[in-house]
Amino acid sequence: MHLLILGASSDIGIAIAHKFARAEGAHICLASRNLGLLEKKARDIETRYQVKAKAIGFDATDYAGHPDFYRNLDPKPDAVVFTAGYQGNQGLAQKDFGEMRKIIETNFLGAASILEIIAADFEAKGRGLIIGISSVAGERGRQSNYLYGASKSAMTTFLGGLRNRLHPGHVRVMTVLPGFVRTRMTAGMKLPQLLVIEPEQVAEDVYRAYQAGKDIVYTGWFWRWLMGIIRNIPEAIFKRLKL
Ligand SMILES: NC(=O)c1ccc[n+]([C@@H]2O[C@H](COP(=O)([O-])OP(=O)(O)OC[C@H]3O[C@@H](n4cnc5c(N)ncnc54)[C@H](OP(=O)(O)O)[C@@H]3O)[C@@H](O)[C@H]2O)c1
Repeated sequence: MHLLILGASSDIGIAIAHKFARAEGAHICLASRNLGLLEKKARDIETRYQVKAKAIGFDATDYAGHPDFYRNLDPKPDAVVFTAGYQGNQGLAQKDFGEMRKIIETNFLGAASILEIIAADFEAKGRGLIIGISSVAGERGRQSNYLYGASKSAMTTFLGGLRNRLHPGHVRVMTVLPGFVRTRMTAGMKLPQLLVIEPEQVAEDVYRAYQAGKDIVYTGWFWRWLMGIIRNIPEAIFKRLKL
């Protein structure tokens, strides 16, 4: 398997790269903006697992560059993980359109732009796997992060529609819904520690779901039940909560 990770300097992206290299013998292509870091990570993966690993430049919001980015990939991937993301600052984004735009573009538009190009190639070949890292934040709007949440809702809906479209063509689309994960994105945030998992646990859950042929995976597993409760709180009560 040739696995392409988009937004690969992410802690979750790197953990998924290690898991697939170790368990599947996958050759890894790490794509993101921080090439210096990615080259070191690629050497580390090659040394540990005796697979091929390389680093290439990729910017999720360079839409005009996406067709050439994919055209120039050699070899083309069998599987792709989109893990780029930007949480941003909700308070700032309410006043500053630039911040709002960065949140929506990184989490949704960037994913839709590159994944449509990859989907067309996979569809033509009649095989392929697309794994999108969305978030439980997309399941209900909360005052503390509704712009990030809205961009992840869009990502989740996009992945669902893509799965529906590509299913007859034997292309798999997996939606990953993490809760709280200990990464650079959450560093410094006050989180309920019992609900926080490590990026390696996300990678385990993604790999297990891949093997089991699942479409949607909550990680950690308890988020499926927690979100079931949160989704069902009546709006008349929910709007009064300081979440
Ligand atoms: N951590 C959590 O609790 C949590 C929960 C739910 C979902 N998620 C999602 O999981 C994914 C991975 O996040 P993480 O937790 O691993 O955080 P992270 O380490 O901060 O990773 C986010 C990555 O996105 C990359 N990125 C941002 N803008 C980009 C762009 N324009 N082009 C390419 N790459 C870009 C960043 O690359 P640079 O290094 O170049 O900035 C960074 O490596 C994200 O989609 C996030 O929304 C995380």
